[in-house]
Amino acid sequence: MVERIRSGVEGLDRLVEGGFLRGDVILLAGNTGSGKTIFSMEFICKGATQYGEKGVFVTFEEDAETLKRNILELGFDLEKLEREGLIRVLDLEAIKGSGLSANIDFILDALREMKAKRLVIDSLTAFLIACQEKFEYRTLMHLFYKILKKLGCTSIMTCSVPTGLSTLGLGIEEFIADSVITLENTVRDGQLKTRFLIRKMRGTSHSKKYHEVVIDRKGLKIVPFSMM
Ligand SMILES: Nc1ncnc2c1ncn2[C@@H]1O[C@H](COP(=O)(O)OP(=O)(O)OP(=O)(O)O)[C@@H](O)[C@H]1O
Ligand SMILES: [Mg+2]
Repeated sequence: MVERIRSGVEGLDRLVEGGFLRGDVILLAGNTGSGKTIFSMEFICKGATQYGEKGVFVTFEEDAETLKRNILELGFDLEKLEREGLIRVLDLEAIKGSGLSANIDFILDALREMKAKRLVIDSLTAFLIACQEKFEYRTLMHLFYKILKKLGCTSIMTCSVPTGLSTLGLGIEEFIADSVITLENTVRDGQLKTRFLIRKMRGTSHSKKYHEVVIDRKGLKIVPFSMM
């Protein structure tokens, strides 16, 4: 019997048979400003406050202070959740240069210590920069993937893609991603819109349509109607 967990993103679960499969790694790829960080925050914070799953959020893109300030605007009080022991924000920028292998160990220690069941790496692109050798990072990431499965820890790893690019270009997505979701910026009627597409989700009969993403002061949601 497969176990599905609620994503925490409003409007998403009904498009994926009720939620993500426990232990899956979801690659969340998107253009800049498309909502990758906010989407991932919904997953971690709602997981902790509504679904009883602790989470670790690893930030590479924004430093922890800036991230906390920006996300507080949307109603997520990360400091409070950290004080309550429900989440942990790891700012790996501070220990960058220690290499991919050390960073992976650091994350795994935090997950085990907290008994966390959710992980976000924002972004995987920046995370992999710590490792020069493509050969080495393929091996390390494969190992990491297998450990996450064993821990039953469901993960979102974000990936920045330039507008118009269709491949992620990481060279690991075929074996590390159980699911690939994209957020794409488009301009329609002179207005910036973001659309959401599930490109793959192993073991799931999922929506194959584009849906609209709305970000407001209450956070991020996928709206029911599909868009072209
Ligand atoms: N308080 C808010 N109210 C409405 N929209 C907001 C608010 N805060 C952020 N946004 C929207 O969310 C976008 C940023 O989302 P987010 O930081 O998740 O994107 P991202 O894909 O992670 O970007 P980056 O590539 O820079 O990391 C902003 O560009 C803005 O459109
Ligand atoms: Mg971001």
